Amino acid sequence: MNIILTKDYEAMSDAAFCVMQAVVTRNPSAVLGLATGTTPLGLYARMAEDHRKNGTSYLGVRTVNLDEYVGLGMESDQSYVYFMRKNLFEHIGIPLENTHIANGKAPDLAAECARYNALLDGLQQDIQVLGIGSNGHIAFNEPGTPFGSTVHVVDLAESTVRDNARLFAREEDVPRRALTMGLKNIMHAKKILILANGAGKANAVYGLVRGEVTTALPASILQLHPDCTLVCDEAAASLLSL
Ligand code: GLP
Repeated sequence: MNIILTKDYEAMSDAAFCVMQAVVTRNPSAVLGLATGTTPLGLYARMAEDHRKNGTSYLGVRTVNLDEYVGLGMESDQSYVYFMRKNLFEHIGIPLENTHIANGKAPDLAAECARYNALLDGLQQDIQVLGIGSNGHIAFNEPGTPFGSTVHVVDLAESTVRDNARLFAREEDVPRRALTMGLKNIMHAKKILILANGAGKANAVYGLVRGEVTTALPASILQLHPDCTLVCDEAAASLLSL
């Protein structure tokens, strides 16, 4: 695993943007795997700024997102489809039909998982951006998820509901289920870019980099990926003794 250690969140976002920018300029029809959460917001702001200032084109780019809450769609500002449009897609001129997210409002969730999985099979990510949960989850693959998992419906861990409650008006409003890419879908990406900042991620980052490869800490599977870069700030890296 390549590790890029940065001073703070802004420097982490700068370094992540450099990695992303290289992929998009090298391949104007790249497939970008994207993540939600607060961690990649700085990266997305830099992509938007670069598009505005330098005209980097996303007309041929396709995107696939990691996950979505069950029951939420564009009408909810807590949905991941809303998050992606407001924080990135509307600012980079990407045709919305080239952007893909599992449909949290699908009437038949099993069919939606199969549809999204088939779509991912045909859209291998040139780069997959990831954040990390404080319990070591990636996307919504909670501890215990099999390494061979594909797109599935997940019951969120209590700790994840608590972590994500800060983004909702009340903890009761946090959906208890989500649709998520599985670990196999994530590992299928040609390149992984995982970002982490803040002391709250230090334990998870330790497990990601130095821990045993175990389903108890899903991100540890990334140790087996041939091209994985971790960009993290000093607080998140504090247990690594780099
Ligand atoms: C959610 C998302 C993950 C994300 C995690 C961390 O659970 N499903 O993809 O990595 O939150 O979020 P944050 O970046 O806000 O810490």
